[in-house]
Amino acid sequence: MKNTAIAKSPANIALIKYWGQRDKSLNIPNNDSISFNLSAAFTITQATADDTLKEDEITLAGRPVSDLFAKKVIKQLDRVRELAGVKTRFLIETENSFPTGAGIASSASGMSALSLAAASALKLKLSQQELSILARKGSGSASRSIPDGFVRWHQGDSDQSSYAESLYPADYWDLHNLVVVVAQAEKKVSSLAGHQLAETSPLYESRLKHIKDSLNSVVQALKNQDFTLLGVTAEAEALNMHAVMMTSQPSLIYWAPDTLRILQQVADLRNDGQECYFTIDAGANVHVLTEAKNAQKIMKFFESQDYVKQVIDNLPARGAHLVSENVKNVDRVI
Ligand code: PMV
Repeated sequence: MKNTAIAKSPANIALIKYWGQRDKSLNIPNNDSISFNLSAAFTITQATADDTLKEDEITLAGRPVSDLFAKKVIKQLDRVRELAGVKTRFLIETENSFPTGAGIASSASGMSALSLAAASALKLKLSQQELSILARKGSGSASRSIPDGFVRWHQGDSDQSSYAESLYPADYWDLHNLVVVVAQAEKKVSSLAGHQLAETSPLYESRLKHIKDSLNSVVQALKNQDFTLLGVTAEAEALNMHAVMMTSQPSLIYWAPDTLRILQQVADLRNDGQECYFTIDAGANVHVLTEAKNAQKIMKFFESQDYVKQVIDNLPARGAHLVSENVKNVDRVI
């Protein structure tokens, strides 16, 4: 048997973050999170299930991958094989449209694309909820890249109850997320290692108490398309998560000096009447949220800064889906 499937899946940006886990083997979080999918930051993965292969073969952008990368992919393929009840090995060819492992959620797009492609190559028929659960086990935030548009991950309290679902489709609100790239190198501490440190921060307990209010504010902001409420809440939430990271033992500081520069410039732009807000994941790059009317001007502003390497302009996007184009034809953004 030899069967190929190709999946495209977006990275996502969390407005309310997932940080810390109640079950680390299943990636069950301590709180719900809310995100939207990113149109220009995606992974395309081609999975070929091939009974003649002796072991899984994996390439990233046409090149061999590190042992750590291969280990994570093979672990996820084992989950897919277990669901299908087979031992078939895969050829996995994957490519990202953006820098890998630099806090632009490559694990979210990568694990969700891998889950869909591998399950489809084995002709497994999974519901969206089952796919979200499968992707979650590869990387928590990957559960949110399966459904379309604006997404809520229900923390749940068991394997079957912890999954993401769409709140609104991608075309519900044309928000822009400008990823201002200042660091393209892979981060030193993975988010997987970071989650384990969350509870060592004296601020973590108060974060979890406060987060229900933040979730409600984002739900309200999405419902009313209230950009100010959305932005103010997302900024405060990102700072809250980074405060937990910085006060963990050992301390985790994902920011670079240029990260702080962008935060100050976002505040300046806002004072100038160009409404925008920042959020940051586990990396030095900053995601700047704007409405459509200001997006081009703010994008040009950041592109003109000599310390900025690149600005990636994203709109909300649909979730993981099968495509017909070959992985070698991905338009490389970077
Ligand atoms: O899915 P992971 O283990 O890569 O964790 C993602 C963590 C953050 O990006 C920092 C927050 C989030 O909710 O995406």
